[in-house]
Amino acid sequence: MTIALGVLVSGSGSNLQAILDRVADGGLDADIRIVIANKPDAQGLERARKAGIATACVRHDEFPDRAAFDGELVRLLREAGVELVALAGFMRILTPAFLTPFAGRVVNIHPALLPACPGLRAQGQQADHGVRLAGCTVHFVDEQMDHGPIIIQAAVPAYPDDDEATLGARILEMEHRIYPQALHWIAQGRVRVEGRQVVVRDASRTMGALWANPPLEAPFDS
Ligand code: GRF
Repeated sequence: MTIALGVLVSGSGSNLQAILDRVADGGLDADIRIVIANKPDAQGLERARKAGIATACVRHDEFPDRAAFDGELVRLLREAGVELVALAGFMRILTPAFLTPFAGRVVNIHPALLPACPGLRAQGQQADHGVRLAGCTVHFVDEQMDHGPIIIQAAVPAYPDDDEATLGARILEMEHRIYPQALHWIAQGRVRVEGRQVVVRDASRTMGALWANPPLEAPFDS
């Protein structure tokens, strides 16, 4: 089943690009109806235009409050026939004026293994803390920041000489893989939310590897 997708961006839009690429190669069954940015210079708008996707810019600083801004986003998304909204580096907090009409139909990607390191500079928070496993999370959006039910997470190793930039780049590569995957599961109707749990129908339980970093050595590795 093809899902009608709207994507909200604020910046570079590399996650948007990963989604566009997967739609183009047939891996992700989505029809991207509109890409909306809150900043006119968001590179994501350019990426969308290149792909022939409708775009809009809604400047948050031109609205009297968050609810009015959110109302305009809702109007545009509805007009475009959007069923599911993907936040892809969208740097605004959404209010009930947005989340009520799109309840259960907004997803976000966060560059950390939630509930660790919510909020800004998550990559830097992880590097500063010296975590050994960092990662990213695709989750449904609720009214608390970086909080809703988790659809998929991926871990990447972090090393003592990592900083925000090196760790962020490693995380971002994985973001580009898990976000289209999560959207495809939703498009296929395989995703169900039960309280805090997200059930992905027929998802494999096979582990690729035992996740430890540094890796376990014999005899601890078996
Ligand atoms: C990503 O790290 C995403 O997880 C976070 O903002 C960044 C956006 O990057 N929410 P991009 O605009 O998709 O390149």
